[in-house]
Amino acid sequence: MLIARTLPDLRSACAHLRLTANSLALVPTMGALHEGHRTLVRAGVASGAATVASIFVNPLQFGPNEDLSRYPRDEAGDLAALQAEGCALAWLPDVETMYPAVEATTITVEGPAKGWEGDARPGHFRGVATVCAKLFGQVRPDRAYFGEKDWQQLQVVKRMVADLLLPLEIVGVPTVREADGLAMSSRNRFLSKEEREKAPVLIGTLRATALRLTSGEPAGQALADARVALQSQGFGVDYFALVEGATLLPVAQAVSGARLIAVAKLGPVRLLDNIGIG
Ligand code: PAF
Repeated sequence: MLIARTLPDLRSACAHLRLTANSLALVPTMGALHEGHRTLVRAGVASGAATVASIFVNPLQFGPNEDLSRYPRDEAGDLAALQAEGCALAWLPDVETMYPAVEATTITVEGPAKGWEGDARPGHFRGVATVCAKLFGQVRPDRAYFGEKDWQQLQVVKRMVADLLLPLEIVGVPTVREADGLAMSSRNRFLSKEEREKAPVLIGTLRATALRLTSGEPAGQALADARVALQSQGFGVDYFALVEGATLLPVAQAVSGARLIAVAKLGPVRLLDNIGIG
């Protein structure tokens, strides 16, 4: 596996890969790789593309009250995982490369970036869209892979790519779960033993609510019951909503392409999850 830490090294590594493979895939990450990330890399490799994974903890997507310095980092472990999955190139830029001091451009996405995580984390999607646009410009992949776990992020990136006419395809990959259903996330390591045992109640509640909605119940009561069920188990519910999949606009019943999205807190840990309806 090639490793690039500077733009000139990245350019020559990508040029070399383009000679040997007929397409390039990109898996953008912030490191602390788990099975969910590995699945994205495997999807890129299985597509026949030379697969590039970026590791960059992006300061622009962290709010002032979010602890950037506490974000887990494990470069050696991440590189070993990427190599084991058949990744062709790891791209590890530093902050100065990604955000030159003189820069004056960021990317603001409206539409699917509004509400939900957009409200809970002001500026977050501006940071995600900006860093993804930069990574797409640097690597120039044919496809980029994102987990469906961050459903709103996936829709924001798809919207940006469509609106800016960027020449790549965004591929969403289904959420990878622990045996008990908890969606894999680098935040799970911050759960206490007791919180970890309780955490799968979130996916259980999403699945139970999905069943009620697909059997034709209107969303209002089912969503209210879901909140109460989670709160009674000690979760703080940020939101539990039924939305149209691509726009993230709320819908009142289980229309085709609808998505149940939720964020519930256990202690300081925000657990994000979502499932498709129908
Ligand atoms: O999902 C993530 O890890 C990040 O938001 C991403 C897409 C790598 C951008 O920094």
